[in-house]
Amino acid sequence: MQKVPGIDIIQGGRAGGSLAQRTSMGIGGMPEVEVRVFDLAKIDALPKILEDTALPVHILGAGTNILARDGAPQICLLTFETGLRPEVVGREGEYTLMRCGADMRLAVLLAKAADCGLAGLSGLAGIPGSVGGALAMNAGSYGTSIGDHVRSMRVFSPLLGLADLPRERLEFSYRRAGIKGHEGWYLILDVTLALKTGRTEEIREHLRACMEEKKARQPLGTRSAGCVFKNPAPDVPAGRLLDEAGLKLEREGGMMFSDIHANFMLNTGNGLFRDALTLIERARARVLAASGWNLDLEVKLWT
Ligand code: EPU
Repeated sequence: MQKVPGIDIIQGGRAGGSLAQRTSMGIGGMPEVEVRVFDLAKIDALPKILEDTALPVHILGAGTNILARDGAPQICLLTFETGLRPEVVGREGEYTLMRCGADMRLAVLLAKAADCGLAGLSGLAGIPGSVGGALAMNAGSYGTSIGDHVRSMRVFSPLLGLADLPRERLEFSYRRAGIKGHEGWYLILDVTLALKTGRTEEIREHLRACMEEKKARQPLGTRSAGCVFKNPAPDVPAGRLLDEAGLKLEREGGMMFSDIHANFMLNTGNGLFRDALTLIERARARVLAASGWNLDLEVKLWT
């Protein structure tokens, strides 16, 4: 494989460690290849490098919504650094524009928005991932999804190259995001959000309240990937269906559904990928039998 300055190609994944070390679920082996872009000026070389690996490409952010297979996953892991901390970059009518690198933690963005007196994001408090991961999944909670606030996104794809896409080119729906009419992979490099002005103290108070609410209802701080399944309809929470089907505390090997919130699957210590899959299939079958709903995964499976 051709060497390009600004892009590291690591065989055997040793540099960053296994996916068990790099995901909140704590499961997953050493990827076959890792490609790390640390100079975005060289990013045009990326499609060829990825093509040469002849492996499926998976983009890793903070690893908080991923269930990866053990052993040696035959994947090419793609990571990158922008170094772009959140900052105010302009104004548009009643909105202030805040730009942030996709590799930043969502919590860093929320704290900065509060410091700058920018409101609208506090419902996202307690979502653990990166800004890029939150955008890719259109993460949401307490009535707010990150996509609601996007003004534009800078992306890279083999088709578009580096492109700053206005909101009109993007589409967001429940736990989904995409570029209209675009096929194939793309990297989200940074985002510009349009936020209304508020009072810092009130925003911080709202952040605290959402966090407290979450702590009371969700097993935060455990080894999990958040909710395993999507809610099958806006007024039909998967957590309730799983709870009613008796899945709380259901176990397979080291994996278990939480007794606090039935849509959280926990790795209690030595959980394996196959334990997780067995538990997922059992839960699906029981919910289908009990309620007639077919649950779709919210976590990303890397097989
Ligand atoms: N419920 C139960 N039993 C349970 C869990 C929930 O009966 O074990 C009931 C609750 O009592 C409540 C309803 O189900 O009446 C909804 O529960 P909750 O308020 O916890 O919200 P959710 O729909 O389960 C969604 C998101 C969460 C997000 C919360 C808060 C999905 C799949 N989940 O959960 O996001 O934090 O709303 O807004 O959309 C995630 O995506 O990983 C995630 C955790």
